[in-house]
Amino acid sequence: MLLEAQEVSKSFRGRRGSADVVAVDAASMSVAPGRFVAVVGESGSGKSTLARMLLGLIPVTGGTVLLDGEDIASMRGERLAHFRRSVQAVLQDPAGSLNPRKRVRQAIAEVVRLHRIASGPAAVREKVVEALELVGLSPGEQFLDRFPGELSGGQRQRVLIARAIVVGPRIIVADEAVSALDASVKAGVLRTMRDLTERLGVGYVFITHDLPVVKKVADEVIVMKSGRIVESGPKTAIFSEPRQEYTRTLLAAAPVLEPAR
Ligand SMILES: Nc1ncnc2c1ncn2[C@@H]1O[C@H](COP(=O)(O)OP(=O)(O)OP(=O)(O)O)[C@@H](O)[C@H]1O
Ligand SMILES: [Mg+2]
Repeated sequence: MLLEAQEVSKSFRGRRGSADVVAVDAASMSVAPGRFVAVVGESGSGKSTLARMLLGLIPVTGGTVLLDGEDIASMRGERLAHFRRSVQAVLQDPAGSLNPRKRVRQAIAEVVRLHRIASGPAAVREKVVEALELVGLSPGEQFLDRFPGELSGGQRQRVLIARAIVVGPRIIVADEAVSALDASVKAGVLRTMRDLTERLGVGYVFITHDLPVVKKVADEVIVMKSGRIVESGPKTAIFSEPRQEYTRTLLAAAPVLEPAR
């Protein structure tokens, strides 16, 4: 399976006669299961817009997003349902991804039912518990009846990952998914995400402004600037021999990695 963007562009209509904003300009990239692809770049460089196009949340204004060679814009019915299961989003928690009035059990169970992963209360509950334990919320039963407000930031982020993982995705698009967490909690959530690449073969498009995180977990790095992909390649190459001045500046601005404890 391969999720690809081929020369995708997105422009937003300018307000009251001002020029259109070209948020993403002919960007091409791909991600396969088991690969950890990090997307970095300064604020406003188009990272989130690219992510939303990869997820099919907003239409492209140019180019194509393809899953296994098939244009996602032309998918309907079972093909579209397959795409929606295969490619899941994990967004930043403070953006309100979890309804504060829904218990963990309900938040995850509704996607299980929506995607017809299981039916019947016992089978659904089993799926929910299994997903919670996969993301390190163990024993899962202890978390079922909690509201988001009764969880720590790291636990909430894990619930969001569990909700994505429960439908059996091959690729997860994560936009600033750990940015709000403090260092040690972040490291734990990242380990869990990385672990899912190895255990379940999940691939990631991982958007972050956090270069130490990239250095730790990525296989490949994509650098964006003003809507364009200005550099991409294996992490080791990007970090050891950045070709673009912009990448060098970005890397120089990153704090030094904490030594592993
Ligand atoms: N719905 C929209 N309408 C108009 N302009 C938009 C819209 N969404 C994004 N933009 C613009 O597109 C550009 C890229 O935004 P985007 O959110 O993709 O950046 P980003 O790289 O994710 O930034 P950050 O690191 O701050 O999250 C910005 O100039 C932004 O103002
Ligand atoms: Mg963003």
